[in-house]
Amino acid sequence: MNGHRARAKPPRWIIILFCLIFVSLISAYLYPPKWYSVDWLPPIAWELTDDEFASRVVFRDLLSMPLVQPKNPKIAFMFLTPGSLPLEKLWEKFFQGHEGRFSIYVHASKEKPSHLSHLFSGQDIRSAKVVWGKISTFEAEKRLLANALQDPDNQHFVLLSESCVPLHNFDYVYDYLMGANVSFIDSFWDPGPQGNGRYSEYMLPEIKVKEFRKGSQWFSMKRQHALIIMADNLYFTKFRLYCKPGFDGHNCIADEHYLPTLFTMIDPTGIANWSVTHVDWSEGKWYPKSYRAKDLKYEILNKIISIDENFHVTTDAKKVQTRRPCLWNGMRRPCYLFARKFLPQSLDKLMNIFSNYSVI
Ligand SMILES: *[C@@H]1O[C@H](CO)[C@@H](O)[C@H](O)[C@H]1NC(C)=O
Ligand SMILES: *[C@@H]1O[C@H](CO)[C@@H](O)[C@H](O)[C@H]1NC(C)=O
Ligand SMILES: *[C@@H]1O[C@H](CO)[C@@H](O)[C@H](O)[C@H]1NC(C)=O
Repeated sequence: MNGHRARAKPPRWIIILFCLIFVSLISAYLYPPKWYSVDWLPPIAWELTDDEFASRVVFRDLLSMPLVQPKNPKIAFMFLTPGSLPLEKLWEKFFQGHEGRFSIYVHASKEKPSHLSHLFSGQDIRSAKVVWGKISTFEAEKRLLANALQDPDNQHFVLLSESCVPLHNFDYVYDYLMGANVSFIDSFWDPGPQGNGRYSEYMLPEIKVKEFRKGSQWFSMKRQHALIIMADNLYFTKFRLYCKPGFDGHNCIADEHYLPTLFTMIDPTGIANWSVTHVDWSEGKWYPKSYRAKDLKYEILNKIISIDENFHVTTDAKKVQTRRPCLWNGMRRPCYLFARKFLPQSLDKLMNIFSNYSVI
């Protein structure tokens, strides 16, 4: 009898052993070791992952590929707006007489815009809702780029909002952008709470904190860079999943970090590190200064037009300021072609003084 019972019931140590193995398997499944915390691996582990390697190969080819120069190169002006464009009349004045050298795309995220100008009517693209700070903002920018890339004549791509105004006449803007050998994508290193404070370790291993950058979303870029954005799934997915308001205790704003980080990583000398769209943060508020009709004077615009060094300040306690000359193909030139934010009420005043400031 005893012998039978002993065979039917395994000894206690076997049960304990099984339990231990079971528990460690479960915990290994639930808490997989993060590879970046493993420090005994040889240095090869710090090199590119398979996905990164694949992406870099595609990016490198896109960057070195000579693009076919179209007979009539155009600039794509892409408007990201909730609805109608209150300053459309001013833009019409800017574009008039330059047909064939530009294309217009309008992404209206809230309501169908009604256009006053024939240059704008029929230029609305299929749009979707945009929530400030969320990836949907960048998805809208991507949608604009994809639409604009369909036209092989478009060689340079400018993102604008409903509150943007041109600071120069069309010829000046066209020559400045087409002749530049870089994309005007803003990018700087900010160790402060509104810079690296928004970084999440979930972005590892592809994006390390030392690679995380910040910059204004208002870009202007060459065709190669627009194609890279279309081709990028890896880095975009990291930002879509891990850079959003409130994620992992960080208030990350994807459209202020994705492009600066991506291009500083893959083509640092191909971007200017400043944006050609001026905005005034000097009031130190959560939002930039808005110009009303009564604030507007020729002198104010002229002051913005004459700025020839770009300025960045970190958001940590040190508030480190960096000033760099705006270099256009190696030459010092004014930094800005556009400015924001101008309220709808400022239209008449702008129309009145545009002929003055647009000749500079
Ligand atoms: C932009 O900044 C990067 C470093 O982040 C630098 O390598 C590059 O030369 C800068 N671009 C220009 C045009 O100065
Ligand atoms: C742009 O032109 C300047 C001046 O010729 C040169 O120093 C710089 O390396 C060029 N940048 C690129 C990306 O070709
Ligand atoms: C245009 O500029 C001149 C000075 O250069 C100024 O006297 C004139 O008032 C300006 N016109 C407008 C409409 O601002």
